[in-house]
Amino acid sequence: MTYIVNDKCIMCKYTDCVEVCPVDCFYEGENMLVIHPDECIDCGVCEPECPPEAILPDTEPGAEAWVSLNKELAEIWPNITQRLDPMPQADAKRDEQNKFEAYFTRAAGAGN
Ligand code: SF4
Ligand code: F3S
Repeated sequence: MTYIVNDKCIMCKYTDCVEVCPVDCFYEGENMLVIHPDECIDCGVCEPECPPEAILPDTEPGAEAWVSLNKELAEIWPNITQRLDPMPQADAKRDEQNKFEAYFTRAAGAGN
C-alpha cells in the first residue's frame, strides 16, 4: 500500500506534506508533487496536512492510475524535503475541477 497525490495538488503545491513525511518521499514537478510508492511507508501523516485534500491512500476507488503516475514521475522529478511557498494562484485554483486536463505538465520542478 502507498499514498498518492492526485490532480488537486496541481497549481497549488502547498507543500505542507513534505514537512511531515518521515522518509522524504515527495518529488517535485513544475506545478505538482508526487509520492514515490516504493518509498512511502503508509504512515498517513501527510493526508490531513494537504489543504485541497490531494493526498489519498491507494485503497480509494480510482487510485490505480494515480499510483502509476506517481511512480513514473517520482523517478524523473527531483526530491523535495522542505516546505516552499505555495504557487501564486494556489488559493484561487484550490477548488477548481479537472486540473489535470487543464494544467498537467511533465516538466520537473526545482527540488530542494
Ligand atoms: Fe510520507 Fe507517510 Fe505520506 Fe507516505 S504516508 S508520503 S511516508 S508522510
Ligand atoms: Fe500538493 Fe497538498 Fe502537498 S497541495 S504539495 S499534496 S500539501
